[in-house]
Amino acid sequence: MDKLLDFTGKVALVTGGSRGLGKAMALALAERGADVVITSRKADACEAVAAEIQAMGRQAMAYGCHVGHWDELGTLVDAAYERFGQIDILINNAGMSPLYDNLTSVSEELFDKVIGVNLKGPFRLMALVGERMAAADGGAIINISSTASLNPSPDSEPYGAAKSGLNALTRSFAFAHGPKVRVNGIAAGPFLTDIAKAWDMPAFEKMAQSRLALQRGGQPQEIVGAALYLASEAAGFTTGTIIRVDGGTP
Ligand SMILES: NC(=O)c1ccc[n+]([C@@H]2O[C@H](COP(=O)([O-])OP(=O)(O)OC[C@H]3O[C@@H](n4cnc5c(N)ncnc54)[C@H](OP(=O)(O)O)[C@@H]3O)[C@@H](O)[C@H]2O)c1
Repeated sequence: MDKLLDFTGKVALVTGGSRGLGKAMALALAERGADVVITSRKADACEAVAAEIQAMGRQAMAYGCHVGHWDELGTLVDAAYERFGQIDILINNAGMSPLYDNLTSVSEELFDKVIGVNLKGPFRLMALVGERMAAADGGAIINISSTASLNPSPDSEPYGAAKSGLNALTRSFAFAHGPKVRVNGIAAGPFLTDIAKAWDMPAFEKMAQSRLALQRGGQPQEIVGAALYLASEAAGFTTGTIIRVDGGTP
């Protein structure tokens, strides 16, 4: 294994690790030696991924938690440190972008939930884990953002705003927790995960062929290279930045 991408002895915490992009990144880290804490709302789905990781000979912990619920995050972090004694890689990946008919139909509850999961939870986890990383051997934090944070995005205005806020936190936490902790983001373009189940696929294919340089949606595996890079010493001089993995989104 390339030493730069060898995560033996490292512990990663991946939110939303039960499926989609989070699962792909969690498995990729475990395949390269990391032990992994998998968290999402559904503990049984996390257990299934943890079992896959254990079958690779790595250690894994499954933990059911809502990342938008402030108080649950302290308990999650305490449980992870109690089990492993360290977190070296935090991937704030859990996110959601509910569709709505029009802007006035966006309820306060929906708005707060979108901000809670995509922005508030990552803030709290970066504060809790980043501080402990900085006090120990350092670490790498990766925030999964979206091209919706960069481009006007009809049907997902609160989500785009939350992810823009996450980009701002990525930069400010790089300074807050530097120099021992690197904090970076990935602005994902359209990936064909469960999120895509809500899309009008013929309309999406048409849009992809006319507007995306790669003319298609991404597969979950295609987020992995950027995540491994940012988590590793290969990115030792990279912090406070956002990498686009978006198939060539304009
Ligand atoms: N797919 C795309 O096109 C796309 C594009 C741009 C950005 N992104 C971003 O990429 C990240 C991953 O998306 P994905 O496509 O992999 O989504 P996904 O397949 O829908 O998976 C979402 C993951 O997050 C977890 N999750 C959702 N709400 C949660 C909550 N309140 N608390 C804790 N965990 C929660 C889910 O598990 P539970 O249901 O068990 O909670 C699941 O593990 C998100 O941040 C998303 O915004 C995706």
